[in-house]
Amino acid sequence: MTTNKKRSLTGLKVTGNLHLGNYLGTLLPALELTKTYDCIYFIADLHSLTTQRDGNALATQTLDQVATWLALGLDTDKHTLFRQSDVTEVTEFAWYLSCVTGLGLLEKAHAYKDSLAKGLEINHGTFAYPVLMAADILMYEPDVVPVGKDQKQHIEFTRDMAGSLNALYGEILKLPEALIDERVMIIPGLDGQKMSKSYNNEVPLFCDEKTLRKKIMSIKTDSTGLEEPKTLKGSLVGDLYTYFGSVAQFDDLAGRLQKGGLGWGHAKEELFQVINEHIKEKRDRYNEFRKDEALLRNELKKGAEKAKALAHPTLNRVRHALGFR
Ligand code: TRP
Repeated sequence: MTTNKKRSLTGLKVTGNLHLGNYLGTLLPALELTKTYDCIYFIADLHSLTTQRDGNALATQTLDQVATWLALGLDTDKHTLFRQSDVTEVTEFAWYLSCVTGLGLLEKAHAYKDSLAKGLEINHGTFAYPVLMAADILMYEPDVVPVGKDQKQHIEFTRDMAGSLNALYGEILKLPEALIDERVMIIPGLDGQKMSKSYNNEVPLFCDEKTLRKKIMSIKTDSTGLEEPKTLKGSLVGDLYTYFGSVAQFDDLAGRLQKGGLGWGHAKEELFQVINEHIKEKRDRYNEFRKDEALLRNELKKGAEKAKALAHPTLNRVRHALGFR
């Protein structure tokens, strides 16, 4: 995979069923980049350990994620898909970065500060999360890292850590750029807050049709009466509709709602229809891939080999510079 194309790298945690927020915010933008970049995408299972306590769930959801990437069309011959924990060298590299990272920097991390503010129990993994993430990134020398806006600080930290090591040992690490798609920043969930596993407001990407309909029907709407005119634009139903329906479909539904006589329930049924149309084939492909665990494990094996080949030159350079010769 050594072409002269630029490299894109991102990781996606295993935190339960992937949902429409992951799909629109991470998976689709990452797949779009496969047209112009060499892409290195990984399942961030080590990062999931800061909160995941169920080994069976982690194992299952890891395979779910592999099947998802494949169902959405990631070509793993042209690009690289791997499981973070298969390249254990990343934890070694994280240690090297730890030793040049000030506590003060880590104490500024939004995720850590939020957990503190909420009075949550914080483990060392949560605190050290940005260091492991920097190791993930720097080890594979990407040009760009496509992430959501909430991850921007992590990329800045990554650049800081690379800068520290470079200042001490010479230019051994390549500084990446964050690639942030402002359009897909915040995908709203069923209650209008950001769609997230932790708010329990998510719409699963690949559940069966019945569950999908039920989820969509549970979207929060106001109590405007059936006969009254309703405005689709700016409503939660409307916001989700824009991601799946065409402009013409949106305008048509908006017009009918504005006339009155159409309830939010009808609008939600139509939203369900456009989402279902959009993901139907992908879901069928997902179910096919998901059944074939041997194939999924083989993908992981192939990905691990490719990822190691990319990681070793960087790591060897770092080891040498640090004095492990
Ligand atoms: N922190 C990212 C998230 O929560 C996941 C992640 C881990 C990641 N390592 C990464 C993203 C490296 C980009 C690059 O979504």
